[in-house]
Amino acid sequence: MSELSVNHLLGIKYLTNEDINLIFETADHFKEVINRPIKKVPSLRDITIANLFFENSTRTRLSFELAEKRLSADVINFSAASSSVKKGETLIDTVNNILSMKVDMVVMRHPNPGAGVFLSKHVNASIVNAGDGAHEHPTQALLDSYSIREKLGEVKGKKIVIVGDILHSRVALSNIFALKLQGAEVKVCGPKTLIPKHIEKLGVTVETDLIKALEWCDVANMLRVQNERMEISYFPSTREYTQQFGVNKRLLDNLDKEIVIMHPGPINRGVEITSDVADSKQAIILDQVQNGVAVRMAVIYLLASKIKQ
Ligand code: NCD
Repeated sequence: MSELSVNHLLGIKYLTNEDINLIFETADHFKEVINRPIKKVPSLRDITIANLFFENSTRTRLSFELAEKRLSADVINFSAASSSVKKGETLIDTVNNILSMKVDMVVMRHPNPGAGVFLSKHVNASIVNAGDGAHEHPTQALLDSYSIREKLGEVKGKKIVIVGDILHSRVALSNIFALKLQGAEVKVCGPKTLIPKHIEKLGVTVETDLIKALEWCDVANMLRVQNERMEISYFPSTREYTQQFGVNKRLLDNLDKEIVIMHPGPINRGVEITSDVADSKQAIILDQVQNGVAVRMAVIYLLASKIKQ
């Protein structure tokens, strides 16, 4: 297969396993490119990309921008504080701006779930979802699986536990879709209040005992508690959360195998993982960041080649 089955990347739920394989093979090539002395290819000289960030972001925005520049695309950036954005209004404004600027592709982060799908129906541009509320964050899940494949050879058959705030995390949902599609076994672990009811329907198992989950897994993906998406308290205190669901070096040293530790960032050091774990050899957090650029280059390149047809 040499092209994606989709014209937009709105969520992992719209992809096939073949799409994921194609993205990874393309990312392998771009990973080699970004490690060359000249880290740039002219592939997208004729493409203009708008990065629209209606929600705070550091690494995702920088990663997309770098990926676009390394493909030689023209790039425009727009950021807005989420608090001033009302669903509907701003997106329609955005639509009109995009149409008049002749933009080919839009990378968008937005607080409302489904914002990317909405935009894809109203503009004549390829849309990449860079995170829509607590819904999906497809490029994060792709770079996470790519990093697992790089570290452990393949994703199929591997045991992955996603630990923390599953309820509010778009990283969790996209990871569940991506890992299941590739044939991994997936468990979620966290306080009962932060695990959605009926999540088993997505083909995952639930464990509320962190030690049991760590003993089971090959990889633990540690999530940040999404305080900004909470209006009530889901657990008594941060200290108690850390006692029950935080990973520290002692817990890891007591396991009979060396598991891989992942984190999408930003890390709250001392809450979901301690500093010695974040900085240890077991953690592949910085590899994830590096792979993010190659994976995003692959996604943009493959979507752009569909626009050009
Ligand atoms: C994640 C996000 O924004 O969903 N971060 C990221 O994309 N690097 C996870 C988080 O904010 O905790």
